[in-house]
Amino acid sequence: MQLKLRGIRKQFGENEVLKGIDLTVDGGEVVALLGENGAGKSTLARIISGAYPANEGTVEIDATRVDFHKPQDAMKAGIQVIYQEFRHNLFPQLTVAENLYAACARADANGTGCK
Ligand SMILES: Nc1ncnc2c1ncn2[C@@H]1O[C@H](COP(=O)(O)OP(=O)(O)OP(=O)(O)O)[C@@H](O)[C@H]1O
Ligand SMILES: [Mg+2]
Repeated sequence: MQLKLRGIRKQFGENEVLKGIDLTVDGGEVVALLGENGAGKSTLARIISGAYPANEGTVEIDATRVDFHKPQDAMKAGIQVIYQEFRHNLFPQLTVAENLYAACARADANGTGCK
């Protein structure tokens, strides 16, 4: 699966947080987003996962534009986000991949669906 972001912009009121993000992540690739507090990492994750709408820009999965309106839609397409704020949702003894799988399995059990 390939994820491609083109020209993602997001502002909250006067606060221009994301000013045109272009990013391609290929299948099997691990990418770390680094930035100081408030840089916009979580905002970008929320846009990719459909939790926030972008003001501009597109998200593509495998060269097809997607327009998720909620995280459940993104999960069905294979996008899963674990937020740092929700520590009670994490299993510290498990790996990142195992945590993602656990969240996916829970969504499947709930009938929400997950890829
Ligand atoms: N729902 C919101 N309403 C208004 N401003 C927001 C909202 N969400 C994020 N922001 C602002 O957007 C900016 C980026 O925040 P974000 O949480 O994406 O940063 P971050 O890089 O994830 O920071 P951290 O390292 O602290 O997790 C900050 O200025 C934050 O105050
Ligand atoms: Mg964050």
